[in-house]
Amino acid sequence: MKIHLQTPEEIRPQIWKELGRASLDRHHEWRTPVLASADADGLPDARTVVLRQVDAVAGQLTFYTDSRSPKVAQLQAQASAMLVFWSARLSWQLRVRVTCSVITSGPEVEALWQGVKQSAAAGDYLSPLPPGAVLPPSSGTADAAKANAPAPTHSFAVLHAQVLQMDWLELSREGHRRAQLSANIWDWLTP
Ligand SMILES: Cc1cc2nc3c(=O)[nH]c(=O)nc-3n(C[C@H](O)[C@H](O)[C@H](O)COP(=O)(O)O)c2cc1C
Repeated sequence: MKIHLQTPEEIRPQIWKELGRASLDRHHEWRTPVLASADADGLPDARTVVLRQVDAVAGQLTFYTDSRSPKVAQLQAQASAMLVFWSARLSWQLRVRVTCSVITSGPEVEALWQGVKQSAAAGDYLSPLPPGAVLPPSSGTADAAKANAPAPTHSFAVLHAQVLQMDWLELSREGHRRAQLSANIWDWLTP
């Protein structure tokens, strides 16, 4: 069902409501945004991630990742990043400018790891090789990679993205609408 909200006072909370829903509902299209960052040479890099937690009051989005993955080093060097969400159901694109911090140890990481380690995803964070490591030519299958013994310690990390600004675009037969918003600002833009 398409919703057609009119005012910033209606649209802004609905954006956060949809983000919150996406963090809880694996079928929500906003569950898997693209996170774009800059690599060491300033070149763009981007990948799909799963939205895990949303704190609308703090303006924070949380993701899980492997502390050894290239994106972590990128975000530690350049915390500025973009998240892009698209939902065909809503006809909404959301581009979110964020500043990222990655937490690799401490009570928050260990508390969340207690839950993740019971799940099917645990192996992702126990692999002996970091994500993106080059495998020998003969081991080009998932099975070969999995044959390696699991690492004794996890490399699970929590990625917090603090929202700075959003660019909301609604596609509609009645006319597309676009706005740029931050905590206290709402500017309508040409689509
Ligand atoms: C549907 C989907 C969901 C994904 N979710 C995550 C995730 O939540 N965290 C993560 O680190 N990588 C996730 N990945 C893998 C990343 O897209 C990426 O391949 C990997 O993290 C390595 O990225 P990097 O080399 O830029 O660090 C996901 C991939 C897909 C296809």
